[in-house]
This record gives sequence, C-alpha cells and structure tokens, in this order.
Amino acid sequence: MSYLAQRITQGRKKSYGMFAKAAALASAGRDLIHMELGSPHADTPLPVKQAAIDALLAGNVHYSHFQGLPKLRAALAQKLREKNGLDVDASGIVVTNGLTHASFAAIMTLVDPGDEVILLEPYYPQHLGKIELAGGRPVFAPLDAANRFSIDPRRIEAKITPATKMICLVNPCNPTGRVYSRAELEALADIAIRHDLVVISDEVYEEILFDGAKHISIASLPGMAERTVSMFAFTKSFAMDGWRIGYLAAPAALIEGILKITTNDVTHVNTFIQEGAHAAVTGPSEILAELVHEDKVKRDLVVTRLNQMAGITCEWPEGTIYAFPDISQTGLSSQQLAELILEKADVVVEAGSFYGPAGEGHLRVCFGSQSTERITEAMDRLQRFFGSL
Ligand SMILES: Cc1ncc(COP(=O)(O)O)c(C=O)c1O
Repeated sequence: MSYLAQRITQGRKKSYGMFAKAAALASAGRDLIHMELGSPHADTPLPVKQAAIDALLAGNVHYSHFQGLPKLRAALAQKLREKNGLDVDASGIVVTNGLTHASFAAIMTLVDPGDEVILLEPYYPQHLGKIELAGGRPVFAPLDAANRFSIDPRRIEAKITPATKMICLVNPCNPTGRVYSRAELEALADIAIRHDLVVISDEVYEEILFDGAKHISIASLPGMAERTVSMFAFTKSFAMDGWRIGYLAAPAALIEGILKITTNDVTHVNTFIQEGAHAAVTGPSEILAELVHEDKVKRDLVVTRLNQMAGITCEWPEGTIYAFPDISQTGLSSQQLAELILEKADVVVEAGSFYGPAGEGHLRVCFGSQSTERITEAMDRLQRFFGSL
C-alpha cells in the first residue's frame, strides 16, 4: 500500500459501520430491514431520467467542458443566487461526482500536511479520510447533546491552534438532523473570520427540511463568501445517489486549484449525467416538494413510534433523513445496542458512537431509505425489542 493510502486510518474502512456486520447476516438469508445507510428509497424523478436518456440517444457521449457543462453551471449559479443567497456565476462553480468528490477536491486543494481541520462532533465520518490523505489532522469539537447539538462557539474556539486551517461544517447535519439557525452560523462565521480560517460547508441535505425550518448557506453571511467552499449534490433531494453528481461553489482564487485536482482525478463528470442534473435543477419545484413530503411522512412515523418505545426519547429532526434517538436510559453503549438490535430484531441501525464519542448514547435511524410499509414493520420489531429489553 502506498504511503499516501496508509495515511488514511479512518476514512473508507470506518465508513461501513453496521453495514458490514449486517451483510454477513443478510447473506445467511435473514430478512433485515436496513435503516443504517442514507440511500434514498424514492426513484429518481422520470423527467430527470428522460433527460439523461435523451442526451445519450442524441449522442452526448463525448468529452465536454472540464468544469461542468456551461448550461448546467449557469442554471446552478441561478439556483445558488436565488435560493442560497450566494453571489456566484458559472465560473465559480465546479460540477463534481457527488458531494464526496466536491469535498475531496476542496480538501486536497486547501489542506497541507500538518494542517488541522476542525469537525463538529458528531461528525460525518467520510470527511476524515480525505483530511488524513492530504496529511492534515482532524480535530474534533464535541457538541452537547443536552443542548440539542447546537453550535457552541466556546467548544469550537477551544480547539483552535496556530495549525488550524479549516472548519468542516455539515448543515443540515448528518447525523443529528439539526438545521443550524442564523445565530449559530453567525457565531461560527465570527470564529472563522477572526482566526482567518476556511470553511468547507457540506449542504447535501439543504432541500430536506421540515416544519418550516430554513436552510442558510454560511457563505451568504457577511465576510464568508471569500473563505467558504459550499458543496451540494443531487444525491439526496432528487434521489440520485447512484448517479454520482454534485457541485461546489468557491471563491475565484480557489477554482484553478480545485480544477487541478478534478481534471487529474476524473477529467469531468459524465456528459449525459449532467444533462439529467440540468433537468433536475431547472424542473418544476413540485418534483422536489413531493420527494421532501414523502420524507416528512416517514420522519413523522419514525419519531412518533420511537418516542413510544420504552427507554427511548427522540428529538424531531429539523432536516435530513435521519432520526437520532437518545438511548442512554438503556444503560448499553450505542454499539452494543445496535448489535443487539441487529441480532434480535433484524433491523440495522447505526451506533451514535460511529460519529464520534459525542454521538454516544444515541442511535442513527435512517427513515429515508425504506418504504412506509417496511418502516412500519421495523418500528413494530423495535417496539417488541425495547419492550423486552
Ligand atoms: C453529510 C453527507 N455528506 C456527503 C454525503 C455523500 O454524498 P454523495 O453521495 O453526493 O457523494 C453524504 C451521504 O450520506 C452525507 O450524509
């Protein structure tokens, strides 16, 4: 294994979590209900598929613009200006292979060996491997469950050293389901500006919002556009996880560096896939609204049922496709409990500790990845399980 690959201690290996344990049981024929992976249950909307099919049939099968199709970037720039409040044009956008590739390009461009990157904990594990690959050091700022995992500037500022280069933000947050308020984001922006830090902002769940929650892109706050890489994807909101398409918006000074990474690792995103994405971003807003409504119905079902179970309390997620119930009353660690649930109830959920020690005492339950019928069956199984614990 190369010296570079050996740097990764936490990335891919860690990203499998309970999935790997469940795979062994599934191959032995057990009827498992998977609520650990964030793969949307919905199908990609038909007009989006049709646009990609039409593009293929029309012969759009060749190399295209390295930064992304100009018409897609123009549509994305319009969306970012109107919905996210970002002052950006097509030249400030790079189309990527999902958000994973956007964060890879941003981290490889910005992080040098020895740089420290602060992650709010509970964190999204897949960001770690890239930081390590770049030779950087992940530094964790644990947020407080008792304070609904809110952004607490003191907990973040305490982690800043002369080596701190960047803060990694996930908003809406996987795994907690929080959608950070303007005041929380302003507190984070204040730290970034005072300490001259870059922010990479993972907004993959920006559209999946409930009960009137409002998503704010941190780059739209004063003084932040020039120090933020904002990252988005079609993955979750348009149920396009297998398509592998996302995009980032970055200050002009960073685009050249980012393109050095993306043109060397993938050249550019598949041409006809970008045509599908163009249909998604320019299509009627009802398509997106319908998909989010389905997620809300499932959230309501899961959170209501979890709160009826012995020893469980569950906050209402403001966004994302995850519930993050508190299981501390069971007296078991989250890993022990997730394994017991798999063994006894044939339901796969993720241990909160998978997202760092601050996630201990919780489970992550993905409500976006199954049909309503299967979710109901999973909740029946969990209710029996917790009733007999
Ligand atoms: C917070 C977060 N960022 C990034 C990703 C990966 O996105 P993509 O599939 O677009 O690479 C996920 C997927 O679960 C996620 O939850």
